[in-house]
Order: sequence, then structure tokens, then C-alpha cells
Amino acid sequence: MRNLDSHSHVRGESIYLDDIPLIHGTLYACVFDSPVAHAKLNTIDVRDAEESEGVVRVITAKNIIGENQIGGIVPDEPLLADGEIHFQGMPIAIIVAESETLARKAAKKIKIDIETLEPVTDPRIAAANGDLIVPPKQFILGNSPAAFKTCAHIFEGRTETNGQEHLYIETQGAYAIPAENGGLKIYSSTQGPTAVQRAVCRVTGLAMNEVEVDVQRLGGGFGGKEDQANAWACITAVASQLTGRPVKYALHRMEDMRMTGKRHPYSSDFRIGLDRDLKIVAYDVTFYQNAGASADLSPPVLERTLFHCTNSYFVPNVTATAYSCRTNLPPNTAFRGFGGPQGMFVIETAIAHAAEKLGVPASEIQRKNLIDDGQRFPYGQKAESEAITSWNQGNKKYDFSGLQKEAELFNTSSRYFKKGVAMMPVCFGISFTKTPMNQARSLVHVYSDGSVAVSTGAVEMGQGVNTKIAQVAAKVFGLPIEKVRLQTTNTLRIANTSPTAASAAADLNGKATQLACEAVLTRLKEVAAELVEAEAGAITLVDSVVFRDGEKTDLGWQRLVMESHLRRVNLSEHAHYATPGINFDWSTAKGHPFAYHVYGTAVVGVTVDCLRGRYEIDYVKCCHDFGSSMNTAVDNGQIEGGIVQGIGWMTIEEVVYDPDGKLRSSALSTYKVPDIYSVPKTIEILPLETDRENLAVFNSKAVGEPPLMYGIAAYFAIRNAVRAFSPENPLAFKAPFTPETVLMSLYQS
Ligand code: MTE
Ligand code: MOS
Repeated sequence: MRNLDSHSHVRGESIYLDDIPLIHGTLYACVFDSPVAHAKLNTIDVRDAEESEGVVRVITAKNIIGENQIGGIVPDEPLLADGEIHFQGMPIAIIVAESETLARKAAKKIKIDIETLEPVTDPRIAAANGDLIVPPKQFILGNSPAAFKTCAHIFEGRTETNGQEHLYIETQGAYAIPAENGGLKIYSSTQGPTAVQRAVCRVTGLAMNEVEVDVQRLGGGFGGKEDQANAWACITAVASQLTGRPVKYALHRMEDMRMTGKRHPYSSDFRIGLDRDLKIVAYDVTFYQNAGASADLSPPVLERTLFHCTNSYFVPNVTATAYSCRTNLPPNTAFRGFGGPQGMFVIETAIAHAAEKLGVPASEIQRKNLIDDGQRFPYGQKAESEAITSWNQGNKKYDFSGLQKEAELFNTSSRYFKKGVAMMPVCFGISFTKTPMNQARSLVHVYSDGSVAVSTGAVEMGQGVNTKIAQVAAKVFGLPIEKVRLQTTNTLRIANTSPTAASAAADLNGKATQLACEAVLTRLKEVAAELVEAEAGAITLVDSVVFRDGEKTDLGWQRLVMESHLRRVNLSEHAHYATPGINFDWSTAKGHPFAYHVYGTAVVGVTVDCLRGRYEIDYVKCCHDFGSSMNTAVDNGQIEGGIVQGIGWMTIEEVVYDPDGKLRSSALSTYKVPDIYSVPKTIEILPLETDRENLAVFNSKAVGEPPLMYGIAAYFAIRNAVRAFSPENPLAFKAPFTPETVLMSLYQS
């Protein structure tokens, strides 16, 4: 079944923040942001801006009625700079005017008196200075120092992965409207309506029951609106509170690129030890995460890097250490994979490096070390593994060594075009690693005309979560999907939501919806039993009709609902779901944090043009573990999109900051994302249907993030092609592998 939004998307009728009709008297905000990355802020001169045409108010830190603080995990992030500037793009003042143009015109008239300070952009320098966001974190399994002494082969190295711009099509933005008695209603393009509500309460001094946050859908989030939507909502809220009028702010693309954080760049050191049979015996890894100027979501992102530091492999002795380093970049944040991809890249590098030195294919080491049922991850959880199955099924269908031989054969006869192939197994844990976040609620109303409305905490951002939730309700009630409507995500209807993140939105909100629908269904069945003179246990609902002992009756859904209403039966339910069986104890760094893992194996083939350094991704073929997919159209779309986004991160997307902390790749002319010409020529998906006891709604598995990591294979495939052309050149393990980098690697002396 296709995504319920596809019709309105294609016709341009879907509603985003910018499509909400404006209330008469609406004002427009914009911010004056810092032109430098690190400075002492002495004074802000707003006089000229205040006198500028159409300006209603200019707001600085001292005007904020509540707290000038939006840091959710660590209180280290002022909404507006006060005394110090920590990154280029840091908001300093809010300009509120009668029109957007006038607000932006006035912003140019603000003057600041600053003393510039030395910026730090390198996480290793920050770590050496002791500038950490949180104390270092460590996972230890077995005894790696002792184990290294027994290894036949030991290899060491260093890796760099860069940031990544989210490039959601809809930029960040919010619209705040004053409500009765000082309250506020906020429309926000956010993955976390409750996070916005909390942040707005903090800066305005309002209570949570005075602030309503409403989200229709997002034009993409990809993690970039999990935490970073808060600032813009707070800016409109503060402006609305101080002017008493509705205030809107939707960022321009270049503002968004300049002022918001991205995927965390990482610099890492690894040491890997193998025995004579190529079994990985020991692995030490140290991660330096470039957190940017404040914590944002860096600590949990860092934790997920540790959780995924051994990817799909069983390594008996691991010491993994991670530093979250404070630098003068915009606060980096969640991005699809949430630190997992950065962790996996390092172990894939360690394996590729060992393979190159030993003269064996990396796939041999990968295959030999896949985690099996019952083996433990470094954090103590026992694997229920599909790693070997997904590899074997993929191999059966695609013939991995055949693809490798095909490339080798091509390379022997082609001088200036070289092919490369690489494999990427993926293992990604599903659940928020912070256990309390794994809860959700759903509010289901069956109206007296038989139509069904569902509200949950899930935010639709293109991933199709609303379609899946509608499917759940339709399935439980035995109704066609057209009878079910997903309502906006709203904090009045659903409170205390976790953000739509960690790929778990359909899992959590789908289960809550299932519980709510089942509760209503139970009551409806009792009425039906009376009406058709049967036991409630004999009643089923199929295709909008009541069945008694499997036999069709003449009682339809609509009449059943109306009869139930007349008998004063409750046709609504608010249900709560909390993922069972998960826990994690940071004092021992052990536990069972994930409900389950998603597995898969991909093979990526590329052709490199060795004269120009250009390359094409010929194919991505994967065997992917769906559990039992609820919607193959939506899930395949998630896989294709994730793969392309992962390949983009590893290849052509390049975030560039000057040494003084200024973003150079600040527009679409300087930052390249995959377009229709650079996507893989083919993406093949072999579904692996798996079944275990602990899966999500209707035995499905989450799908949102894991496929992104298949894209990592593109990096190693390009590397293999480059090595086929110039085997002697030393190559750094540094991503992205842009065409420029490829060209340099081919011909360096
Ligand atoms: N797909 C689309 N089209 N747009 C998005 O913003 N975000 C991704 C993924 N797929 C995203 C997407 C991220 S980062 C996550 S965590 C999941 O969707 C969240 O949604 P889910 O929990 O419903 O999978
Ligand atoms: Mo996704 S990075 O968990 O929003």
C-alpha cells in the first residue's frame, strides 16, 4: 500500500508550516547572528534597527522573561548570546517587524562590539585542552590489553569522518500565536513537540499546560529537527510573548545551513588484533566527537557510537572510549543513524586496513566474524542475530565473490576505468538508549458516523509513520484504510511525547494505537454479541462487517458504532505503551538496551574514471531484515532513501569550515547532495523475513535509520577501485571520498 500522503504531496496540497494561513496582525521575526565563531560580546547596539521601518521590537538576552537557556541535556546553550559568542551563526538578537523583508533589512543595522577570541574547530585539540561536554564514556568487554598479546596480526590507524548537512527540504521554522491568559499556541516544524513545549516554557516562564504545540508534518527532519527545532520555536514564542501578537519565522536556506548543527564529524584511533584464522580477537578504539559549541544531543549520539562500535561482529575483547569535544562550531546534532554510522566506519576501516595488509579480501574477515545467536555485544546484550543469515541469503542471490571477480576481470582489461566492490553488514539496535524514552501514547476516537481518528506522539516527516499507524487501526477494526484519519501531532491530545527518532516511532506509537483500538474493539464486540445474539468471543470484524463464528451477519460497522453510542458505550480510548524488557545501567555500562536489532548485508559496486576522478555507483544490492514488513512500499522507500543519504555522506557531501570556524559550504552551490544523476544506477532489495518474539507492531522491525549505513560500502568500493589503479599510493581513511580526493589519491606520488 502506498504512502497515504503521496497524492497530496504530488499535487502540492500537503500542509507544511509555510502553508498555515496567517492570522491578521502576524509579525515576522528573524535573528541577527554572530559573524565570528568565538568572541567576547561587549555591547549590542540595536538603536538603528529599532528605528528601521516596520520594526516592532528588537529583543536581546536581557529581555527574555524566563531563562535564556535551551540546553535540554546540559544547560550550556543560551537562546541568545550573552557576554560570549561560541559559534558563527549564534543568534544574538531577534528582530520583529511587520514583514519579513523589513525584519531582515533591520537586522543588518545591528552593531556589536566584540573582542575576537581564538576559535577551536578540531576535536582533538579540544580534548587536549580538557574541553569536554561530558566526562569520557567507555565500553569494555573481556580484556583487550591481555588479548592483544596473543594476536598473530595487529594493525593500527586513524580515521576521519566529516559532518553532513541535513538538507530537509522544509527549513526550520515556527509560528507562535498568543492564547488566552498569556498562553501560547506554537506551530513548529519539529520532530519533538514535547521538546519544543519544554524549551518554550523555559524561555517564557510559562507552565506546560499553558503551551500547545501542533505539528501537521515536516518536509523532512533526518534528526536535524529532533532538538534543533527548539531554538526557532523559542524565538517566535519570546517575540510573541513580548509583543502580544502572532509571530512567524521560517529560515532561509542559507541561514539554516549557517546556524544549525549537522552530523558530528569524528576523528578516531583504532587498533585491531586478529588470530591466524582471521578471527578478530581484540579491538581498541578511541572516538573524538566534534560536538560543536554546546551539548545539544551530543552525549546520546556519542553513546550510540559506542553501542555500534563493533557493528555486526563478535569481538571478545573490546576497549572503546569516547570523548565529546567542545569546539566553536554550531552545536552538532542527531542525524539518521545517531552516531552509529561514525562508530561502524571505524571498525570497517580497521577490517579493510587489516585485509589490505594481509592481502585478503575484506569480505573474508567480515564474514568470519559476524555475530551469532547468544554472543554478546560489548554492552552485555546477547545477540539474536540475523547477521549470518542476511549475509548468506544475500550471497545466494547476488553471488558476492562473483561480483568481486567480475570487477577484477574488468580491471585487468581496462586501464582508465576501474571497478571496486565492497560489502557492508549492518546491525542497528532499536530503542532509545535512554530507557525512559521508550514509551508512547495513542488517542483513538471512533465517531458516531463510523469514521476513526487517531492521534499519537509520532511526527510524520516523509517516513510514512502515519500510513503505518493508520494501517494498524484499520487492521484491528477490520476497516478499509480510508475510514482512518491521522490527526496532527499535538501536545494537548498527546502529552509527554518522545521525539520521533531512533527509528522507533512506528514501533512505539503503532503499539499504543493497537492497544487503544483493541480496547474500543472489545467494547464494540460486546454490543455486537448482543445484537446478533452470540458470545462476544464468537465475534470478529472483517471488511466493515460483523462475523459470528466466521459467518457473515447483516450487522455492519456503521450500525454497530451507532448502536454502541446510543447504548452509551465509550467509543474512545487513550492507551499507553512502554517497550518491555529493556534496561541499561551506565554505572557498569551493561544491560539490555535494545528491544531487538535490525540486520542486513549490502554489496556496493562502483566504477571510477581514473582520468577525471569521477565515479558512478553501479549498484547497491542488499538483503535486509524487515521482521515482517507492514508496508513494503514505504519500507523499500526508506531503504532507498537511506542508502542514497549514506552514500552522499561517504562520497560527495562535504561540510567545510574555515580554520576560524566560518562555514564555507553554506549554500547549495558549495554543498553537493546526491541528485538523480549521482544515485546508484540500481538498488536491489532482497527482503529477509525474520521472526522472533520481541519484535514490534505486527512483528515488523523498524526501518528508518539502518539502511543509511549500507552507504558506507560505497566508500570502501571506491577505495578498492582506486587501489586497483594505483596500488602503491598510501591512502588515508578519510571520508568523504569526493571526486577531488579520488583524483588526488590516484596520482599522488
Ligand atoms: N525519511 C524521510 N522521508 N524523512 C525523514 O526526515 N528521518 C529518518 C528516518 N527516515 C526521515 C526519514 C530518521 S533520522 C529517523 S530516526 C526515522 O525516519 C524516524 O521515523 P520512524 O521512527 O518512524 O522510522
Ligand atoms: Mo533520527 S537521527 O533518530 O531523528
